[in-house]
Amino acid sequence: MNDSIVISANSAKKFGQQVVSWYHQQGRKHLPWQQNKTPYRVWISEIMLQQTQVATVIPYYQRFMESFPTITDLANADEDVVLHHWTGLGYYARARNLHKAAKIMAENYAGNFPVDIDEVIALPGIGRSTAGAILSLSLKQHHPILDGNVKRVLARSYLVEGYNGLSKFDKALWSLSEQLTPVIETDSFNQAMMDLGATVCTRSKPTCNLCPVEKSCLAQASDQQMNFPQKKPKKKIPEKKTIMVIPRISNEKAKKVLMEKRPPAGIWGGLWCFHEVDNEDEIDSLMTKLSLKALSLEQHEEFRHTFSHFHLDITPVVVDCRELEHAEVDTTKINEPNQHKWYDLHLGESVGLAASTQKLIALLSD
Ligand code: ADE
Repeated sequence: MNDSIVISANSAKKFGQQVVSWYHQQGRKHLPWQQNKTPYRVWISEIMLQQTQVATVIPYYQRFMESFPTITDLANADEDVVLHHWTGLGYYARARNLHKAAKIMAENYAGNFPVDIDEVIALPGIGRSTAGAILSLSLKQHHPILDGNVKRVLARSYLVEGYNGLSKFDKALWSLSEQLTPVIETDSFNQAMMDLGATVCTRSKPTCNLCPVEKSCLAQASDQQMNFPQKKPKKKIPEKKTIMVIPRISNEKAKKVLMEKRPPAGIWGGLWCFHEVDNEDEIDSLMTKLSLKALSLEQHEEFRHTFSHFHLDITPVVVDCRELEHAEVDTTKINEPNQHKWYDLHLGESVGLAASTQKLIALLSD
């Protein structure tokens, strides 16, 4: 299966020309990261566009660039502020890696983006395809790319069997991408391939009549578009349960809830979350540890948050309370002394919130 497919130089050239010419006629050229292209600006857009649609990314991108116009600005920013700019985009490791990589560039590259592909790939959060996209789109360097959208276009065009993540499949597709990517106008070709996958050669409703490489597409010739790429065999993911405790103090001055900052590793790493307990009996002792006196408890409806590797069923419990003697939480009494914060629901704050925290805040604001 899929021993490397060899394309003649003529066919490769024709494929490249058709794709590039489509880009000149139909491709997107007015997105914010396509103006004033620098490796830094393209890098941020490529990371945001992983797993996220263009329309969703645009306002996040604009806010991010306003706050961190240079690599040095990003490197010098507080991690909380960086994560705040990511709140709602998900996959927060992307933001933590951006921040780490910016610090490396500030330290080792005088705040400049490296221009050697191996040095780019060595940065946290940047794989071969993203590095190729950054250097080709911003500096017109000649590198192939292979993101999920491009994989679909190539797998259909050449009937490559397998699914994303299967090493034989990925290897065969990298070889195709290397053979097809033209030396001239690599930037237009790469952008066009991503756009084709996102807008024409879509997973469930490809519009083949709009495709520049329809005539040479083997899936189209045999009406097998829907069978390529194959679906990844699904693993059943486990279900876990948790109770999130939301201590709340409401008075004439403020309405605030107590959060803790997660340790850097693990789910929601570095983000602000509510405390978790395994069962309701533990709420009392948690309140004692937090130096709070519970006045009343209100259990809300369970909701599900799904991660790539498990479902988490969350039961929120709001505890109206008052502080005992001292206003500050005595973190020495807490097993894992993470940072704590009273979050003012009226003011909001510039910190990174986990998606579940955001959802709970919306519930409390209703
Ligand atoms: N997905 C990842 N990178 C992209 C890009 N440059 N354009 C459109 N979709 C993308």
